Amino acid sequence: MREASVQFHDELPDHAGLREEVLRGLRARPRRLPPKLFYDRRGSELFDAICRLPEYYLTRTEMAILRANSTALAPLAATPTVLIELGSGASQKIRLLLDTLRPRAYVGVDISRDFLLQSTRRLAADYPWLKVYAVCTDFCQPLQLSCCAPELKRLVFFPGSSIGNFELEEAARFLRQLRALLGADGVLLIGVDLKKDTRVLHAAYNDAQGVTAEFNLNLLRRLQREMGAQLDAGGFRHESFYDDKLGRIEMHLVSRRAQQIRIGHEVFHFDKDERVHTENSYKYSVEEFQALARRAGYDPQSVWTDADRLFSVHCLRVSRS
Ligand code: TRP
Repeated sequence: MREASVQFHDELPDHAGLREEVLRGLRARPRRLPPKLFYDRRGSELFDAICRLPEYYLTRTEMAILRANSTALAPLAATPTVLIELGSGASQKIRLLLDTLRPRAYVGVDISRDFLLQSTRRLAADYPWLKVYAVCTDFCQPLQLSCCAPELKRLVFFPGSSIGNFELEEAARFLRQLRALLGADGVLLIGVDLKKDTRVLHAAYNDAQGVTAEFNLNLLRRLQREMGAQLDAGGFRHESFYDDKLGRIEMHLVSRRAQQIRIGHEVFHFDKDERVHTENSYKYSVEEFQALARRAGYDPQSVWTDADRLFSVHCLRVSRS
């Protein structure tokens, strides 16, 4: 078989920054760990498994919405377009978009290096007509991607309700910053999870098989593997719940007993039931998200949801004014 060619750009800043962020988070009160730490190879595999769980309705609902609206999507790539996917992972969604839109080029952006290479190589093999780029970076940083098909119109796909993992103000700032990547005539296609019955949300983040728990605990295992942390991951449990007032799922690691985590010379003492905040997942109504998008300098073009109103996909353009 012909070796599928992917133009690879590694722009991930060095590890030292991440270590500092971890230490700062563990020193803070309440304690926290940076969510991007979730996505090493093992974490990306676990997240892929989460996306297939019966309780985790997000992925399959977003996919169904894209499939149901493919006729409306097709004109998005009427002019020669590069499709840029943020947090590309192992996404099946992108194949659906490639089939529908047939862009000239595809850029997968992800923080998980091996996983990104593996999935973009597969895409390149399956879509021989497509120019494929892989950019390993933290997409929270301003992106230029001047390396990748600068002559083409840009369509940015930001799936999976990853926007919900930002604080509300951070989400606005992130969207505002993304306008530079889009350019004046760019389009943003973004998946946003909707507010709904608490029980449905709770189940999605507390699956019966414990994959989400394992994903959360992988943060600690990663500290062991990569930073030589001395800790007992089994001494912590996964906890997640929906906070109705804040409109968000909160994810924590809770210490089952009094214990310590040691990283280098630093020792962190945990009381029984003391927690580390690892992630938030904000949920929006359609109107709330559109208001956020307007504040960030976009004109909402279309929004699609499923019949049960579980999930939404928004199509936004950069405002002229
Ligand atoms: N963007 C995903 C979400 O908010 C991320 C996610 C899903 C996640 N399950 C998780 C993050 C479990 C941490 C733990 O749904």
